[in-house]
Amino acid sequence: MKFFIDTANLDQIKEAQDLGVLDGVTTNPSLMAKEGITGAENILQHYRDICEIVEGDVSAEVIATDYEGMIQQGEELAALHPQIVVKLPMISDGVKACKYFSDKGIKVNVTLVFSVGQALLAAKAGATYVSPFLGRLDDISTDGLNLIQEIRNVYDNYSFGTQILSASVRNTMHVINCAKIGSDVMTGPLSSIIGLLKHPLTESGLAQFLADYKKGN
Ligand code: G3P
Repeated sequence: MKFFIDTANLDQIKEAQDLGVLDGVTTNPSLMAKEGITGAENILQHYRDICEIVEGDVSAEVIATDYEGMIQQGEELAALHPQIVVKLPMISDGVKACKYFSDKGIKVNVTLVFSVGQALLAAKAGATYVSPFLGRLDDISTDGLNLIQEIRNVYDNYSFGTQILSASVRNTMHVINCAKIGSDVMTGPLSSIIGLLKHPLTESGLAQFLADYKKGN
């Protein structure tokens, strides 16, 4: 399973990259605003900066909600760097724009997906990635992981090439459960990746090894 980090924070992206396990980055307008990145030029430059840190795919989201606007913004984003994946919302014009970009060989991530039907449309339109938001479904007492499982089954039934990018991952258990289900990618905060390191028996075992080494040296 690929690990993407879901942030626009350059320090956190560097930390995940330095760990050696990072496969890409996802961002969205909210995450950009959280880092204080505003204004079209600054946002575009920030995407370039992110691409310089990581080697994998970097999702950059359009703001337009009409077809022409999405095409214009998507082309501008795709031209920024070869690693850029155009992120489009799951609305009618987003599906049309997905088909346009996928026909041109430009990678697309269809975002804000909350149902199997939406995921099916994204795959039919040639999306490289589909982003079901599992944490936000959990937030409204709906089983987010069940959606990932259902999309997995449907995609496998027809051998769709679209990769399931489990998004809105919030914690380590989300990561582990996504892996068990067979999600192709997960994107979450740095804490959901770093948290996988932790086990009290690893810490106590290492402390014991070091203490025993000191006794004999
Ligand atoms: O990748 C989608 C993500 O940014 C949404 O996460 O935690 O805001 O639901 P969250």
